[in-house]
Amino acid sequence: MPYKQFIYRWQKRLRPIVLRIVARVVVTICLTAAVLSILGSNAPMSHAQTVFLTSVVNTQAVSTTGDIQNQRASVYRSPDCTCCGGWIDHLKAHGFKIKDFRTPDIEAIKQKYNVPNNLTSCHTAIVNGYVIEGHVPAQDIKRLLQEKPNVLGLSVPQMPVGTPGMEMGNQKDPFSVFAFDNKSRVAVFNEY
Ligand code: CU
Ligand code: CU
Repeated sequence: MPYKQFIYRWQKRLRPIVLRIVARVVVTICLTAAVLSILGSNAPMSHAQTVFLTSVVNTQAVSTTGDIQNQRASVYRSPDCTCCGGWIDHLKAHGFKIKDFRTPDIEAIKQKYNVPNNLTSCHTAIVNGYVIEGHVPAQDIKRLLQEKPNVLGLSVPQMPVGTPGMEMGNQKDPFSVFAFDNKSRVAVFNEY
């Protein structure tokens, strides 16, 4: 068989196989990128994301003067959220006056109040103009109201076990309270 004919035959056979492999690699890369971006949106704060705000937020609690009582809190939660009720009871026990709003579209509330996507939790509250997202301990809200940093609010993302309203016996996840501003910049406000 002449050399040229031999090469031609093999090119004809190999081309579809090579094309199929290339297509498969491209699909795999796309799928991996999609999965990583979904995982990334719920990933914990990276250090780079948390450094911006530290100039406006005290990273260490200062001694608080006097207790804040009868502070009003408007809480937005979905009708079937039970842990939200546990958090509301925690706030009441610490002297907050609660307005309880049940809404089926809690996502719309989070968008309205500019809660960063990676900081969302089950409920959203408004306290003295600040946004409080998720199971934030009452003492951190009181500290926020006393220090009045230039931020949008505080968040405990997702629902760590052991946060107020998420008690499960003695089980406790380590968790952070984050402060965030209207550019979705984040700083660690407190750590447990
Ligand atoms: Cu919850
Ligand atoms: Cu909740």
